[in-house]
Amino acid sequence: MLDGAWPLLGHMAEMYRQFPALCERGTRAHGPLFWIQGGPGARQLMYTDPAALSILKNPSVSTSFYTEGFSALLGNTLLAFDGDEHRRVRQPMTPPFTPQRVRASDVIAIVTDSVQKRIERWCGLEAFDVVDEVREMALEIIFRVVGVPVTHLDDWRKQYNRHLLAGIPSSGRIRGPIHWYAMRARNWIDGQLGKIVDDLRRTQQTSTLVGAIANGAAEDGKLLDRELVIANLRLLAFAGHETTASSIAWSLLHFASSTRFQQRAMAEVAGVNDIGALATDASRFTFAESMFREALRMYPAIHSVIRRVTAPIEVEAGVIPKGTLLNVPFVHLLRDPVRFPSPGRFDPDRWKERPRPGTIETAMFGGGPHFCLGYHIAIAEGTLFNLLLARVLRQKKLELLRTDGGPVPKPIYLPLMHPPRGITLRLVPSRSLGEAHALADQ
Ligand code: HEM
Repeated sequence: MLDGAWPLLGHMAEMYRQFPALCERGTRAHGPLFWIQGGPGARQLMYTDPAALSILKNPSVSTSFYTEGFSALLGNTLLAFDGDEHRRVRQPMTPPFTPQRVRASDVIAIVTDSVQKRIERWCGLEAFDVVDEVREMALEIIFRVVGVPVTHLDDWRKQYNRHLLAGIPSSGRIRGPIHWYAMRARNWIDGQLGKIVDDLRRTQQTSTLVGAIANGAAEDGKLLDRELVIANLRLLAFAGHETTASSIAWSLLHFASSTRFQQRAMAEVAGVNDIGALATDASRFTFAESMFREALRMYPAIHSVIRRVTAPIEVEAGVIPKGTLLNVPFVHLLRDPVRFPSPGRFDPDRWKERPRPGTIETAMFGGGPHFCLGYHIAIAEGTLFNLLLARVLRQKKLELLRTDGGPVPKPIYLPLMHPPRGITLRLVPSRSLGEAHALADQ
């Protein structure tokens, strides 16, 4: 057990502000396997070796415990299914998420429209709160992707935020009014999603991402059970908004701290007509994509995942006993100085020259059968955001600044990794980007 645990809270305070430092401290003291106390009753085994990623593929690890405290959020979803049950649901949901299908679906148009409107709004504001604004934008995008009409977005936001209260762990014995309130919101959401699914099935619409999911056939040729589709559309909203929002917020904060990054981004969009095509061009790394990938590396929203070990697993450092809650800390693996020299430096150029990312480079999206289903959407969304921002900077001769001129803030790690609240940015007529604007005008 790593030292420094507090009564009741265990290592949570250290996890909250210094999770990577905790991983390093533990590895130095005990090697790659050591115990921490993640809170009351949450003793978990940290595995800080890159081999931890292959454990995610091991059939002797399970995610079904997600439903123990979080059934209202995750019950009946891909995240909480194991083995064959997981395969049976994931297989019909997968085809709409391939790069080609994402490109051909409505996703790029939705992202473009929502991002453009949001940046337009920022242009008219004295300052904007980066965390709040980007979260609102990401939520709007994912709602529209799952088929919510734009006229209903406000109702959805309200109900969804209530539903998230179900994230406060509860069990049969201690369920109280908050849980009831959250469940009422969930029932509202499920009712709306049910109508969307019924409509898409009636019209057999498959041109949108949600249409392709609703009408996707399972191995036996039959449509996926309606309740499963509803639960997993709800999962998409859950899995696809705080994660993208956090990563986009970090790219924005690094843009705001560097004139050079803004210049490079603007130079890239000069003369480009089809920004959507550039964002999804798999043959190259744009600077916009490199910025987003570096934000994901330094600040993986899902900093670690946990698995329940269902049978002893032998690894180089020892035997992991049955019943263990095993923590795979992506945030630590993504700071491996051998793979990422000077890992504490934000350096988008580490994504320029290297081949397309492999298992470690995409660790922020998980590994094994639960690898992020929305990976290609997330990369397209973050890249597109950066390209559209650069275009506005160029066209309106603006620059992005942090209102108080402060440095890029230190992250908060719980529950997901995100920038602290209350940091504001502003878009102002450019003083220092003159050269880049002149270039862009040519
Ligand atoms: C920067 C953005 C994102 C990051 C960093 C991210 C990260 C992850 C990670 C780490 C997992 C694995 C969790 C585990 O193994 O316990 C995951 C799963 C998942 N993600 Fe993402 N995600 C992002 C965006 C999205 C988006 C945009 C969508 C949907 C449109 C999405 C849908 C999903 C789904 C459905 C799963 C569960 C897959 C399964 O259990 O089979 N994610 N994501």
